[in-house]
This record gives sequence, C-alpha cells and structure tokens, in this order.
Amino acid sequence: MWFSNGLTNACGLAFLGALLLSVVDAKPMPKEGGRDRISINTGWRFYRSEYNTDKLAYDLSRNDYANRTDLTVLKPWILPSANDFIADPAARHRRPSGEPTIGIPFVRSSYDDTEWETVDLPHDWAIKGPFYVGDNVPVGGGMGRLPVHGIGWYRRKVEMTKADEGRSIYLDIDGAMSYSIVWLNGHLVGGWPYGYSSYRLDLTPYLKLGDDNLLAIRVDNPGNSSRWYPGGGIYRNAWLTKTSPTHVGQWGTFITSRSVSKSSAVLDLAVQVENAGETSQKLSVVTDVYILDSATGEARTKVASFPRQTITVAAGHKVSVNASTTVKKPALWGPPPSQSPNMHVAVTRLYNRNNDIVDTYLTDFGIRSVVYDADHGLLVNGERIRIQGVNGHHDLGALGAAFNVRAAERQLEVLQELGCNALRVSHNPPAPELLDLADRMGILIYDEAFDGWQLSKNPNDFHLIFDDWSEADLRAMVRRDRNHPSVIIWSIGNEVGEQTTGDSGAAVARRLRQIVRSEDETRPVTASMNAARPNMPFPGELDLISLNYQGEGIRDTGPYAGLPGISTPPLYLPFHDAFPDKLIVSSETAATVSTRGTYFFPITNWTSAPANYTVGSGGNDTLLQVSDYGLYTAPFGSSPDKVFVAQDNASFVSGEFVWSGWDYIGEPTPYYAARSSYFGIIDLAGFKKDRFYQYQARWRPDHPVAHILPHWTWGADRVGEVTPVHVFSNGDQAELWVNGKSQGRLRRESESVYRFRWDNVTYQPGEVRVVTYRNGKQWASDRVVTAGVPVALRLRADRSAIAGDGLDLSFLTATVVDSKGNVVPQADNEITFTVSGRGGGEIVATDNGDPRDFTSFASRTRKAFSGLALGIVRANRKGDITVTASAPGLARAVVKLTAN
Ligand SMILES: *[C@@H]1O[C@H](CO)[C@@H](O)[C@H](O)[C@H]1NC(C)=O
Ligand SMILES: *[C@@H]1O[C@H](CO)[C@@H](O)[C@H](O)[C@H]1NC(C)=O
Ligand SMILES: *[C@@H]1O[C@H](CO)[C@@H](O)[C@H](O)[C@H]1NC(C)=O
Ligand SMILES: *[C@@H]1O[C@H](CO)[C@@H](O)[C@H](O)[C@H]1NC(C)=O
Ligand SMILES: *[C@@H]1O[C@H](CO)[C@@H](O)[C@H](O)[C@H]1NC(C)=O
Ligand SMILES: *[C@@H]1O[C@H](CO)[C@@H](O)[C@H](O)[C@H]1NC(C)=O
Ligand SMILES: *[C@@H]1O[C@H](CO)[C@@H](O)[C@H](O)[C@H]1NC(C)=O
Ligand SMILES: *[C@@H]1O[C@H](CO)[C@@H](O)[C@H](O)[C@H]1NC(C)=O
Repeated sequence: MWFSNGLTNACGLAFLGALLLSVVDAKPMPKEGGRDRISINTGWRFYRSEYNTDKLAYDLSRNDYANRTDLTVLKPWILPSANDFIADPAARHRRPSGEPTIGIPFVRSSYDDTEWETVDLPHDWAIKGPFYVGDNVPVGGGMGRLPVHGIGWYRRKVEMTKADEGRSIYLDIDGAMSYSIVWLNGHLVGGWPYGYSSYRLDLTPYLKLGDDNLLAIRVDNPGNSSRWYPGGGIYRNAWLTKTSPTHVGQWGTFITSRSVSKSSAVLDLAVQVENAGETSQKLSVVTDVYILDSATGEARTKVASFPRQTITVAAGHKVSVNASTTVKKPALWGPPPSQSPNMHVAVTRLYNRNNDIVDTYLTDFGIRSVVYDADHGLLVNGERIRIQGVNGHHDLGALGAAFNVRAAERQLEVLQELGCNALRVSHNPPAPELLDLADRMGILIYDEAFDGWQLSKNPNDFHLIFDDWSEADLRAMVRRDRNHPSVIIWSIGNEVGEQTTGDSGAAVARRLRQIVRSEDETRPVTASMNAARPNMPFPGELDLISLNYQGEGIRDTGPYAGLPGISTPPLYLPFHDAFPDKLIVSSETAATVSTRGTYFFPITNWTSAPANYTVGSGGNDTLLQVSDYGLYTAPFGSSPDKVFVAQDNASFVSGEFVWSGWDYIGEPTPYYAARSSYFGIIDLAGFKKDRFYQYQARWRPDHPVAHILPHWTWGADRVGEVTPVHVFSNGDQAELWVNGKSQGRLRRESESVYRFRWDNVTYQPGEVRVVTYRNGKQWASDRVVTAGVPVALRLRADRSAIAGDGLDLSFLTATVVDSKGNVVPQADNEITFTVSGRGGGEIVATDNGDPRDFTSFASRTRKAFSGLALGIVRANRKGDITVTASAPGLARAVVKLTAN
C-alpha cells in the first residue's frame, strides 16, 4: 500500500488582484503589495526561418547539425539557467565571462523589425500549415505534417518604470517549443531547451529605465524530434513578474495536508524566501488560509492561519520556513460526482522591520487525503474512486499547441460528460492553466515528465539533452505542480527503452525517482511500462505499477496472434503477485482506432481485432479511414470490450487511462499518410465517435444510455446486404426493431459483454429502433432513420455569450440535414463560415474531425465530414456577432452570439 495524506497547488498568482478585493472576513485584509504579474502576450514581432540561417545553435548534437562547423554554440550560457533546479552545488553551472560573439542584429533594439509579422502569444507558428502531403516531406504524419521545424524569433519591448527601480524583474515563460534562448538589450540572459517546461529568467541586471528594453527570444525546433505534433514557438503564456528584492521564490510555497478527516486537517507549509538584494533582511512571514471560490477567483472565509515566523535572509541567499496549522471541518477536495472539488488559497505575506508588506504570494491548494491501496485501488478522502481516465496530448485540435483556456475547458467538459474523472497528460508537463481547470473541475491528473530518457525514439528527441537537463526539468515540473490537489501521480517517463535494459535502466529510474521524492514525498512516482515484466528490475524502482496495454495482454489471442512485435499475456495478476504492496493502474488501454461515422463491411466476428492487418480489418487504405464499430485497434491494442473484461477480471486494478480521450494531431496510426490520430473516443473537432457511448454506459452506470450504430442511410448497393447493428447500453436487455420488425431481444449474457450485437441484420431503408431494459423495466432507447437528400444546414453554438476579450471562444457545429431535419450521415458538403456584427467576431479555425483532411485549419471553408463541421469563433470586443454557415444548394443557417 502506498499512503499519502498529501495534497495541494502553487502559482495561483493568476488570481492576484481579483482575489483580494472581496474577502468575506471579520477582520479587514491588510493592504496588499509587493508583487506584480504582467502579461506580455501581446504585440510581438515574429519571424521564422525553415533553415538555420542565423548560425546560432544550443549545441551540435542534433543529427542535422553534425557537420555544421559554421554554427556558434551557446550552450555554456544556457546551462546556468538550470542552477536553481540542480541539488548538488558542485554540479551547478558557471556562466562564462563576457557575452558570446554573435553576428546577428535581431537581438539589438536598433534592428528594424517592422517587416516581421505581428503576433500575440500563445502562438503556434505551424498550425495554419500548409500541410505537407505525400512521402519524403520535411514533416511526416507522425508529427502532423505541419511546418513545426525551423528557427523562430520573437521580439518585443518591455517597460521598466520609475517605480520598478530597485525591484527584481523576472521573465516567466510557461512553455516555448523549443531550445529557447533569451536576450535583453543585446545581452544573452539564458534559456531552456525542453519545450514543455515552464521557466524563469532574471532580467534585472540588463533592464534600463524606460520602455526601450528589447526582449528577443529565439526558439529552434528540430525536425524528427517528437512522436506527435509538438507545435512551434512560444505556445504558452509569457509574463513579467516584478517583486521586491526580498520575495517568495519561484514556485516557493508547498502546502500538504495530513490527518485529514471531515472534522479537521493538519496543514504543513514550507515557504522559500529569496533575497536578491544587497543587504541582509529581517522579515516576518505570515500565511492565512481562505476558502477559494474557484469560479470567481475570490477568497472567502478565512479558515486558518499559520503562526507568524521571523527570519533573517542574508543578501543573495534563500531561507525556507516551515509551519503547521489545523483547519476545522475542512471543505475537502475530491472528484465529482460523489465529491466536490473544494479549493483553498493560502495568502503568504512578507513584512519588513517596519511592518510594511514587501511581498504577497498566493497558493491555490486543496485539502484531501489519497490512499494508493494495492488491493482496493485509489481511495480519495476514504472513498474508493475508480480511475476512469483518458490520455491527452497537449494540442487543442484546429487551434494547435497554442494554449487557450476555453478550448482546454471544453475538452475537459466533454470528457466529464463521458464520465471521465482522470487525465494523463501524456507525455509531458501541461500548461499550468490546465491544472487550474483540473483543480476547479475535480479531475485527477497523472502528471508526466518525459517520453524518453537516454535511449531515443526519434533522432532529435529529448535523449540529446537528457544528461544535462533531466534533473532540472523534473524539479521544475514537481515544484510548479505540487500544490495542485488534482495531481495524484508523478510519472518520470513513458514507455522508455530503459524498461528492459536491466540494472542500468533501473539505475536511471532510481535517480529520477529520488529527485521527485526530494521535492514531494506525498505522491507516488511511477513510469508507464509497455514492455517491463514483473521479474525485471525496472518496476521494482517505482512506487506504483503503471501498465500500458499489458493488463489485457498484447497480441495474445485470436486475430492478434501471429502479428509481428512483442506479445504478452494478461499481466495484472503476475504484477500484483510480484508487487503485493503496489497499486496498479493501466496508464494506457485500448488504442482503438476509428474515423467518426465511417463503417466498412463485413465486420469482424471477434470482440476485438487489429485494424488493417486481417481480412475484414475495418480499415481502407485508399480512404485512410477506419470503421467506427469500435472493434478495431492498433496491433498492440484491444477494443474497449476486451479492456473492460480484463479490468473486471482483476478487481485490485485501480482503473484505466484510455488511449486516447480526444484525437490529436500527428501519430495517425494506422495510416501515416493522414494528419491526425484515429485513437480518440472524441474526434479532433470534438464530435463523439460511437464508442463515446460505450464508455459512458460503463462510466456512468446510473445515466441511461442506449446508442445505435451504424447510421441507416445506405445506397442501393447495400439493400439486402448484412449490415450488423450494435447497441451500447448500460441496460441488461435490449430489443431491436428494423421497420417495426423485431430482430430479437438480447440479454446481457454475462457481466463481461459490453455491447448488444445483431450481426445478421440486412439493410432496408427505414427506421432502426432499440429499447433497452434494466431489471425488467424500460431503461433507455434510441432510433436512427434513413435520411433523405441534404437540403439545409443547421448551426448550434456551445455558448451563445462569450467574453469579447480576444481569448474566449464559441464552438459552432454545422450539421447537414434533410427536409425533416435528420442528419445526413455521409454528407460532405463544402461549408463556409462567415461572421458579421459589432463584436469584432472572427473565425479562428475550422475542422471536421477527418484525419485525412488537408485543408488548412485556418480556412473558413470546410467540407463536412460524416455530416458535421466545426467553426471556432472569438470576439475581439463587445457587441453582437452573427455567424452564418452556408453551402452551395443548401439553405444556410445563422446563429447570433453576444460578446460581453
Ligand atoms: C556528416 O559527414 C559525414 C562524413 O562526411 C557523413 O558521413 C555524414 O552523412 C554527414 N552527416 C550529415 C547529417 O550530413
Ligand atoms: C526528418 O527526417 C526525414 C528522414 O530522414 C528527412 O527526410 C526530413 O527532412 C527530416 N525533417 C527535418 C525537418 O529535418
Ligand atoms: C519543511 O518542509 C519541506 C517541504 O515539505 C520539507 O522538505 C522539509 O523537510 C521541512 N523542514 C523541516 C525542518 O521540517
Ligand atoms: C470468427 O470466424 C472465424 C472464421 O469463420 C472463426 O475461425 C472464429 O472462431 C470466429 N471467431 C469468433 C469469436 O467467433
Ligand atoms: C493495410 O492493409 C493493406 C492490405 O493488406 C496493406 O497493403 C497495407 O500495407 C496495410 N496498411 C498498413 C498501414 O498497415
Ligand atoms: C477502399 O475505398 C475505395 C474508394 O472508395 C474503394 O475503391 C476500395 O474498393 C476500398 N477498398 C477496400 C479494400 O474496400
Ligand atoms: C483473468 O485472470 C486470470 C488470473 O486470475 C488470468 O489467468 C486470465 O488470463 C485473465 N483473463 C483475462 C481475460 O484477462
Ligand atoms: C447469423 O446467420 C448465420 C448464417 O445464416 C447463422 O449461422 C448465425 O447463427 C446467425 N447468427 C445470429 C446471431 O443470428
């Protein structure tokens, strides 16, 4: 058993300002001060070159730089940026004296960049395309066929006011892809290679008074560096943080809870205070805890205070203080529907000798207990919570890697509708705001650092910098994320090659685990394993057993047997026997592939079959589509039906993370000629594939589900042909009618049958209807009819009122319908989205979820795919917005939105 009473999040600075205005508290809040966090997202000048023409390089380890003798290597100036994240003082890096000589003017204020593009962050330079189509292209299907590679330069002026004199001023970049190097006023400040880490650089020494401080950031994104779409550029938020020289350090608080019960919880706090000034400072540290209204970001009732502590921090030093307090009747954090994600905020204030506030630092956190029980799974606040999770890469579909809060929130909302309660952020630290959303919505997070270690998966991936940066990247992840109550598991790696290299691989795992444990002892550390066996040394180094696909067996039975590649029998029990004290979770299951609304005949008679490897494989090589029956998988995968059986067969397993929740750009198994994945339960546009209802039926047992597939609008060539009808339902019996004629009432013959299938139905146009029953009573029903010809479009917005702030989004679904309003399931009409009105509306992107659609995501014209297309709208000011969807020959559709 692995036990933790820990909980927690830091970095809640996003709420500074709003928070402190509306505190409901008996005593008035003291005057706040000491710290500003300023967004510098807008008004950057941007330039990208596909090839390295500026002749700078972090180092020459990349295969395409191997023979470049003309490049200036800047690595010695970049490595010191890691120093705060390297524990051993002897291993820290010393900055070479002087500035490196570089021959480019881009870093100087005097350079005229007016010809460059103007962009706002978060920015993904590659998402608009164009797509690379065909073979032998610079970026193939694996990385999404978009122009992610190359060198990007970002330039912007930043201001230092009179009031800033004497303050410490930091640049905070939440994520830049990749090999960032930063200059201020021509001075090389530092950088950070790994594109998924958030990092801070101290600008103070190079800033001058006024608004003519030139910040230049260079990113260099190698080709062949990733197994999925990484995006390119500064794809997350950028900030200036201004503090007193004496302040709470970067991610400088850590709050954990223990002895958690309904009646009380003990909180332990650590605060790291940093003195960047030139004189020693005597300070008092005071931290109060409030209930946080996470919908509004407002602090409510004060529920506890940590005892005031007085410390002296010498110039150039850091001091940590610890304190404990008790919260009575704590509002606990836990996942819905059985629990509520209650949040707290700790307000830490530093006072100087004169009792002036010199810094105010907010830490959002939650109070909860988590027990990782090898026999009973995950217990949150004492309640068994089955992990019903999915995996997700960081891209946001048609919006690319550029982080957007509303787009991420929408992804999580559709997942919660599915019954999902957990997300594995595969295979890298997410945007910080994603964890804020997970905290607020009550989603459990499996937070993962790396996809690879020393052994490469791609020529230019993380293995090139692993030895220099793995410690710093790992500490950066844990320090940034450890106060989030949503985070329940740390992962040091995904399917790393070192799983199977015996003691040498295990030694790397041991080192990385120790690093995480030294930053956070409250959560288990794992690495996901697709190849390690119970008798190997690797799993022995981990606190919990995280299995990819092996629980249900890989290529072990039926139509999988004989495929090339590793095969394993179901390994839940052997792992449980070998590690009786360790919780087991399936960190990847299924890898079922399909394209929404596509069906090929005949279908397999098995409950699970590899796509495109056998007769009746479910795929079509020419169309690049895979049948949506939910029966076809990657060669190492299993259909949901098979996964559920394996999990039911091993009650000690804590649950699963399905590969994958949403489709994502890149990794288009089994058709690498396409642009985006087939794995999602939800397609890239956010539309539900049929198996959405199979998961919903299992994950929301009390929510009546009945869903018929396939659609029932086939051509003359199918009339009289066998067209199997399957129904997903959480009822125990189901009866199907075709044009009023019963096809038989089926009983769920055992607990381990996860679909009702009528495999002998022959197609006749008309109506298919199902009624399902539970315990003899009608439970749920569904109906599909043969649609007529397309006559009109229908348009629906997910939200009709949005903020006119240029960030908020409305997602509009256009549907091709017949004269009776039925969806025309194979319609592919070309739909154009337009906007008008005073709200400054803009079509940001469109999509349809078709993995082989190479129309630019930025296009306002998009073919429907299986009857649907998506338009994404934002508003740049207040006012009304009218969105119109039109297509030749069809009645157009209009939706009115309001921007507030
Ligand atoms: C570098 O030069 C060596 C020797 O000429 C050659 O074999 C190799 O292919 C070159 N590598 C690249 C990436 O051009
Ligand atoms: C990636 O590798 C392929 C195969 O070696 C090569 O054709 C392609 O140019 C590379 N892409 C980039 C951007 O370096
Ligand atoms: C202070 O708290 C930190 C973080 O929890 C912990 O690592 C450290 O051991 C504590 N120090 C003391 C003296 O308790
Ligand atoms: C599917 O059909 C094949 C060929 O007729 C047969 O060998 C196999 O046993 C069947 N599988 C199932 C699960 O019925
Ligand atoms: C799919 O199957 C066809 C026919 O067997 C084969 O030619 C093709 O290579 C397969 N495609 C993939 C991606 O495996
Ligand atoms: C795949 O689709 C194409 C285009 O519709 C069709 O011509 C071909 O027969 C299909 N292939 C298979 C194996 O069904
Ligand atoms: C069920 O568990 C048993 C061991 O208890 C194992 O031998 C068997 O392979 C498992 N079956 C499946 C379908 O996972
Ligand atoms: C489907 O039809 C086949 C051949 O007519 C028959 O053997 C089989 O039993 C039928 N299956 C069902 C489920 O009715």
